[in-house]
Formats: sequence, C-alpha cells, structure tokens
Amino acid sequence: MNHPETLAGHVAAYANTAEGNDAVFHHFTAQTAATPLLAAHRRHVDEHKLGYGDPAFHYMWLLLLQAAAEKFPNVRCLEIGVFKGQVVSLWSLLARELKLSAEIHALTPLAGNPPPPLNLWSRLRYRLDRDYREQVKTGNFYVNEDYEAVVRAHFAHHGLSFDTVRLHRGYSTDPAILKNLSDARFEIIYVDGDHREAGARHDFATFGAKVVPGGWLVADDAAADLPGTAFWKGYPEVTSALSELAPLGFVNILNIGHNRVFQRIG
Ligand SMILES: C[S@@+](CC[C@H](N)C(=O)[O-])C[C@H]1O[C@@H](n2cnc3c(N)ncnc32)[C@H](O)[C@@H]1O
Repeated sequence: MNHPETLAGHVAAYANTAEGNDAVFHHFTAQTAATPLLAAHRRHVDEHKLGYGDPAFHYMWLLLLQAAAEKFPNVRCLEIGVFKGQVVSLWSLLARELKLSAEIHALTPLAGNPPPPLNLWSRLRYRLDRDYREQVKTGNFYVNEDYEAVVRAHFAHHGLSFDTVRLHRGYSTDPAILKNLSDARFEIIYVDGDHREAGARHDFATFGAKVVPGGWLVADDAAADLPGTAFWKGYPEVTSALSELAPLGFVNILNIGHNRVFQRIG
C-alpha cells in the first residue's frame, strides 16, 4: 500500500503561511478520505468516539511511517497519551499493511482523571487554583472508564492484538517508567499527554532527548501561533512549551493543522 507522495516532498513544498497551512490541512484531509485503509480506520474512531484530533493526521502518519522505514531498519515509535488507542492502533495497522519492521510503545495511564462536579466550590476553585484552572483550560480531565478494555477491543476490530504494543502504564513523569526508559531511543515520538505547560515542557525535554538523530517528534495541540483558518489550533500552553525543542536540535519541518512535525537534525 505504498503511497506515491512522500513526506520529503511535502516538506520541500511547505510554506508556513496561512494559505500554506490551510492547503496542507485540506490536502491531508482529502488524502485520508481517499485512502481506504485510513478512511476506514478513522471512520471506526469517529463512529465509536475512540479518539481526538483531525482525520488529516492519519495521512501524516502514513507518510511519516513510510519515510521512517526508508531511513531506519527498525522504526521504534512511542505515543505519550493513548486515550482509546487511535494512534497506536493506526501505527500497528500501517506496520502490518506496509510490512514494516516496527516496535510500538505506549506510555499512558489507561485511567481517567475525572473532573470534579460543577458547583459553587468548583467555580471558586477555578478562580483560586491555578493548576485546576489550567487543567480545565487544556482539557486535562477524562472520565473513569475501562480504557484497557476499550483499547483491546479497538485493536481486535482490526484483527490486531494490543499485546504486541509495549505498554508503559502510568504517567510520563512516573520515576519507575523514566528509569525503565532511561536508555530507550525512538525514531518517532508523538506527544499528546498532559497539555498543561509544565507537563508539555517535561515531555518535550525528557522524551525529545530520546529521539535519534534524523528521527521525528510530533507535537499535538501545539499550533496556537500558526497562521491559517482551516483548523483548530490547540492550546497556547503546549505551543509555548515547544521552545524546549530547538535546543535539542529539532527543526519544525511541517505542520498539519495543530500537529507540528519536528525533525531532530544530526
Ligand atoms: C488527548 S488524549 C490522547 C488522544 C490520543 N492520542 C488520540 O489521538 O486519540 C490525552 C491522553 O493522555 C493521557 N495523559 C495525560 N497526562 C499524561 C502523562 N503525563 N503521561 C501520559 N499520558 C498522559 C490521558 O490519560 C489521555 O489518555
């Protein structure tokens, strides 16, 4: 199912202007719809409310995995913040269809962070408690559910097993997980976990350092400062945190809506 378009082609043609960003977003959306595997996967996500983000991102993952497989013998991918498994199941599906040598990792609590009930106290707390206010603003609350069962069913729908994914169950700040991953390196990392500024800074700095030279880090919800009108731009908090990436040698090579693609030059 190799696609004739390439990531490199899009990067070479990319212009970070309102017209350029809107055109990329529209093109990637259309390409997702026109690629049966991507369209079917995303349709299942939409119908069962299994994920966030825009359909355009599916096509980005196809081009990015193709590019990674051409450059590296084995593609190690890590998603921080899995929710109901949209991205790790898509990666697994693409790895199977494209016959890629890939190792897929998921770092995520598979647990909720339920919002407190809305009442007079929560309104007062919103005014007084900066962290609570930031959690509300950045959509950091998730209802309690059996996320593992949902992800397993999501994989099974595509004839995949979640057991093939290396699961690091917990938060990206968990000392035991960080110790386990201290020597880990990845060709691709997708950061879509804590959207508070400190959380996003932590993830970009800590996990950005684990991307191999020539590899990529994709930041979700991080386009508050981008020109364009066709897409939702994410959170200013995550966008500010992107400043962690340049000192690590990352260059912003392409943007698909609020998904920002950075490559580690080295
Ligand atoms: C926006 S959702 C992810 C959506 C998913 N990437 C997708 O495309 O459908 C954010 C997820 O990050 C998880 N999360 C929040 N803080 C995290 C952290 N510090 N480390 C790992 N996961 C985190 C939440 O439990 C939630 O599942």
